[in-house]
Amino acid sequence: MRCKGLILMLSGVLASLAIGWFAFPAALYRTEAQPMQFNHAVHTGEQNGMTCDMCHEFTENGSFKGIPTIAKCTECHSAAIGSTESEKVLVEQFVTPHKEIPWKVYSRQPDNAYFPHAAHVKRAEIKCEECHGPHGSSSTLPVYQVNRISGYSRDIWGRNISGLPSHPWEGMKMDRCVRCHAERHRDDSCLDCHK
Ligand code: HEC
Ligand code: HEC
Ligand code: HEC
Ligand code: HEC
Ligand code: HEC
Repeated sequence: MRCKGLILMLSGVLASLAIGWFAFPAALYRTEAQPMQFNHAVHTGEQNGMTCDMCHEFTENGSFKGIPTIAKCTECHSAAIGSTESEKVLVEQFVTPHKEIPWKVYSRQPDNAYFPHAAHVKRAEIKCEECHGPHGSSSTLPVYQVNRISGYSRDIWGRNISGLPSHPWEGMKMDRCVRCHAERHRDDSCLDCHK
């Protein structure tokens, strides 16, 4: 009798865990395809040795340009250099017709949050990897997912449904911004980050 009750209870616990860890994330997040594949490692690895700032530039007034426009790619890919499928897509669908690539941004914050790269990268000398992990040396794009309710990228919350990061660079919620600022003795007001 007691044993049966225990089994029933355990299977109930297991079922709710399964809903929490698998069914709930699947219901909460929608996967969206990137417009094409991109391989950072081919560009930034030893063979071609490009530095981050060759593509991710700052303007003269100090603002960060973000993901490069198609003009940057055209400098080298006006015609195919290699023979990969993704380069073929790049040349035929974007470079030749002069179309911008509509990349989805993993780290995109809500419109009301203000984040300046220059203050972090130039003044505080924080490495890209501390916030973005190994993206700049990766050879395939991570799966891009968006929260169906808020419309925000999953990477703001972090990949773990519990909200606990598996890597120190995962997730960029407000508490992480505020925590690092506190560690570095920065006093914030709401309006520093919310415009
Ligand atoms: C040849 C140009 C090029 C170089 C060099 C380059 N990137 Fe990128 N980067 C891109 C493109 C294109 C994207 C958009 C596709 C993607 O998300 O990977 C991107 C996206 C990113 C993103 C994703 C931002 C987001 O949240 O969606 C990060 C982070 C990044 N790059 C970091 C780096 C770092 C760090 C380096 C240097 C180690 C670097 N990149 C070098 C072209 C480049
Ligand atoms: C300074 C030159 C340079 C620039 C600028 C550049 N690339 Fe490349 N790219 C290369 C080289 C070199 C390769 C390797 C070609 C090969 O051997 O296959 C490459 C390969 C690629 C490939 C195929 C890699 C693979 O493994 O599938 C894609 C896709 C690509 N680049 C996209 C881009 C995009 C998008 C941009 C603009 C954001 C860009 N590249 C800017 C030099 C450049
Ligand atoms: C202190 C954390 C931090 C550091 C350091 C950092 N980033 Fe970011 N990055 C962010 C945040 C947060 C966003 C989202 C900004 C937004 O949506 O307004 C972002 C966005 C981006 C994007 C998306 C493009 C865009 O239009 O905003 C790229 C590309 C990127 N970062 C590359 C880099 C590179 C390359 C470095 C190193 C030179 C770097 N980041 C350093 C936190 C950081
Ligand atoms: C260091 C920067 C920073 C400071 C300071 C800050 N916030 Fe935020 N806040 C953010 C970022 C980034 C987000 C978006 C990510 C998230 O939802 O956690 C956010 C999200 C929020 C949201 C949710 C909005 C949404 O669209 O989901 C509210 C509400 C908010 N902040 C209120 C405040 C208030 C009130 C203060 C002052 C006590 C404050 N924040 C101070 C960075 C900051
Ligand atoms: C890893 C640590 C770290 C993280 C994470 C971080 N910051 Fe910062 N932030 C700093 C430091 C250090 C400064 C002071 C830079 C300086 O002026 O020397 C700063 C400065 C700022 C400033 C003031 C810029 C200026 O011009 O004075 C804003 C706004 C800001 N951060 C927003 C954010 C937001 C929003 C996030 C999260 C999305 C964030 N930060 C995450 C370390 C961090």
